[in-house]
Amino acid sequence: MADLFSPFTLKGVTLRNRIVMSPMTMYRSVEGHANDFHVMHLGARAAGGFGLVFPEQIAITPDGRTTVHCGGLYDDRQIDGWKRTTDLVRAMGGVSAVQLGHTGRKGSAVAPWEGGHQVAADHPEGWRCKAPSAVPYGADHPHPVDELSVEEIKGVHRAYADAAVRAVEAGYEWVEMHYAHGYLGASFFSPIANRRTDAYGGSLENRVRFHTEALDAVRAVLPERIPLTMRLGADDLHAAGATMDEAVAAVALMKEHGLDMADISAGFNTPEMDGTPLGEPMGFLSRALRVKREVGIPVGVSWNLGVPANAERAVREGLDLVFLGRPALANPHWPVWAARELGHASPFDLVPEDYGWWLKNFRGHAPSIGWPEPLGAGPAIDLDAAPSSSLPHQGRHEPAGASAR
Ligand SMILES: Cc1cc2nc3c(=O)[nH]c(=O)nc-3n(C[C@H](O)[C@H](O)[C@H](O)COP(=O)(O)O)c2cc1C
Repeated sequence: MADLFSPFTLKGVTLRNRIVMSPMTMYRSVEGHANDFHVMHLGARAAGGFGLVFPEQIAITPDGRTTVHCGGLYDDRQIDGWKRTTDLVRAMGGVSAVQLGHTGRKGSAVAPWEGGHQVAADHPEGWRCKAPSAVPYGADHPHPVDELSVEEIKGVHRAYADAAVRAVEAGYEWVEMHYAHGYLGASFFSPIANRRTDAYGGSLENRVRFHTEALDAVRAVLPERIPLTMRLGADDLHAAGATMDEAVAAVALMKEHGLDMADISAGFNTPEMDGTPLGEPMGFLSRALRVKREVGIPVGVSWNLGVPANAERAVREGLDLVFLGRPALANPHWPVWAARELGHASPFDLVPEDYGWWLKNFRGHAPSIGWPEPLGAGPAIDLDAAPSSSLPHQGRHEPAGASAR
């Protein structure tokens, strides 16, 4: 039976474990370029043992960014910067994935710490957004948006393909389409945002046409060994929105167009959603497992899987990949920590030898290396005891109760 630390193969790519750093926008790019920050941010997670490492949604056009500080692959000059990150991730034993996307009506925003709201087209950091229909998101994204013409939709598909070509050149070995979180793909799928009456709106088949055509365009330019996956806003968590029944049918259609895996997330197409599952541990797991069962496709999921026992349980119940967002920010070595918590036989083998050899072999006081003992293990410290004149031998450091896997 698979567990969190068993390898996972999709197409011609094998991950060393099931742990993914989920895409997270960092608002650190200038003109869409990667820089030293991204090299550090992504390289550190690969060195910390993550099997698959995403940067953020990488925009396929300038107006597909969330803010002017977001990453892009809409210009050949952006390739070199992202290649620096993929070279380092590979050298650290990880695989680099790219999430290609377009924010649609949620673009023209400022960074979260500046309020996260949308700014008007005449603001120095703003632009007029495009969407399936001329319906603004609302709340703090109130500005008018323009409906994409069919010709413009074809242009978005070409932009997806062009960005995919650049992504391969930049060293990415895994391509995910961002069809979630209220961005362009999510809003084509959702009846809340998509009010079109042409071939891209109305019936479920029409609302998924944008996605299947984009998949066709990208698959046509990708080498066969590279997996093509997508993150779906599967459930709008709103009575008028997209439902899980529709999501299952949509993933089945996308599978016919070359989709290799689905990451199941929420729609975020309205500020009025019932966000209850987003606050629950493993709140989206059952939805993802349903897609796997009914469509017969590997699935991943994020949302509150950062407790190691929960992540492990999710994989044992059939989840193929565990996507971690905030836990990856909080702890770049989350996989090593989880391995120790779960009694992995050799957690320090997950980090590069430059770290791992010392962590396994250095003679010293093992708990003082800065990695806490697994919860519930380790001796209590007696602060009143006289200091010891010699340090006990602490050679190979295995967690209590470690068992071979
Ligand atoms: C700072 C930040 C930025 C994010 N940016 C993206 C993004 O670019 N694309 C995406 O699909 N999800 C994005 N997310 C959502 C995460 O990928 C993840 O789904 C979410 O944080 C839930 O997982 P968690 O409970 O492990 O944090 C972002 C989350 C955070 C915290």
